[in-house]
Amino acid sequence: MLKGKNVVLGVTGSIAAYKIANLASMLVKLHADVHVIMTRNATQFITPVTFETLTKNRCLTDTFDRADVSEVKHIALAERADVLLIAPASANFIGKMAHGIADDMLSTTVLAARCPVLLAPAMNVNMFRHPAVQDNLKLLAQRGVTVIQPDSGYLACGAVGEGKLPAEQTLLDYILHTAAKKKDLAGKKILVTAGPTQESLDPVRFITNHSTGKMGYAVARQAMLRGADVTLVSGPVHLAPPPFVTVVPVQSAQDMFEAVAARYAAQDWFVMTAAVADYTPVQTHSEKIKKNADGADLTLQLKRTEDILKWLGARKKEGQRVCGFSMETENMLENSKAKLAKKNADLIAANSLRDAGSGFGTDTNHLVLLQRDAVTDLPLLSKEDAADRLLDTLLSL
Ligand code: CTP
Repeated sequence: MLKGKNVVLGVTGSIAAYKIANLASMLVKLHADVHVIMTRNATQFITPVTFETLTKNRCLTDTFDRADVSEVKHIALAERADVLLIAPASANFIGKMAHGIADDMLSTTVLAARCPVLLAPAMNVNMFRHPAVQDNLKLLAQRGVTVIQPDSGYLACGAVGEGKLPAEQTLLDYILHTAAKKKDLAGKKILVTAGPTQESLDPVRFITNHSTGKMGYAVARQAMLRGADVTLVSGPVHLAPPPFVTVVPVQSAQDMFEAVAARYAAQDWFVMTAAVADYTPVQTHSEKIKKNADGADLTLQLKRTEDILKWLGARKKEGQRVCGFSMETENMLENSKAKLAKKNADLIAANSLRDAGSGFGTDTNHLVLLQRDAVTDLPLLSKEDAADRLLDTLLSL
């Protein structure tokens, strides 16, 4: 995902420096070209050899490095970087950055950098809360530096509070959000529905379906990586919420409808991947269950839920785009074409439950994208790649 991207990691003197070895390894696995610059104090906590072994690049620690005279190292690195992350950032380094002090390899590189700069402070809670540090962070944020808030918890100094370097995955998410993809969806507001809905029979039991939410979460994540402002209205699933996405948890079809309807006016695109229940038990049902306690057969009385896709199609405003999903067991193309017209959608992503590698719970999908005047049969792809192709098609409409 980071092929051809140049990631510069600045490591300063903090015990949390050891975590950056893992981050560097994660970045290398995503094919980034990773360069690590350490302050002199950082080398007290972790050795440059660790980073050199992981990144296959020379780890820089000193401005007056005489090993390579062909270029001015800090300037060359600063110019090549697609993103620069300083983590852990000590109070001292934050102070230097805020006031333009450039007295070592890392601080000179930061001053010369034109790329987005991310900063992850890590220190004792009282140091972090000190007005000097807070003012410096505010100043840096005003200048466009992204400050990654530290986690709260047990700190290496024994204190409990804010100041912990966030997990490596969180730091990686920030890097991906900044540099992973072309930001061709910047400025677009996209609402995605995902997962199943749960329709309660009584306070204990419910009716649901096999949806795991994977497709919708993949759409939300790819759209976020491409710069969109994403809202994910999600039924109950066992997936981690994608970072930088506003997640609205819902349970029933009615909840999902209300969550979408409340946000509809502000959105540009809607991608409805949720397997919404078409029917829900009528309210009096738990009464009925009690009355049938003698074991007699019971007929469930169901009422139709609001068809969210159709509701959106009927209210589409100028510039809004609506994409539905269609999961079929037979006559996939005919039924999906009918859905496109009936629901006034711009795009229907159809998949057949009979297709190997497609449907509920899989990590892959074979989608057929239907527009009014075109049908695109995609190959079997990961749900992330399928999501990207779907977003490409919406962008081309
Ligand atoms: N959908 C919705 N609201 C509903 C039901 C479905 O928004 N109450 C959306 C789904 O998220 C999906 C699309 O409509 O994007 C098609 O769902 P599907 O269940 O295949 O369509 P139905 O119109 O319910 O057709 P069928 O009669 O085949 O179930």
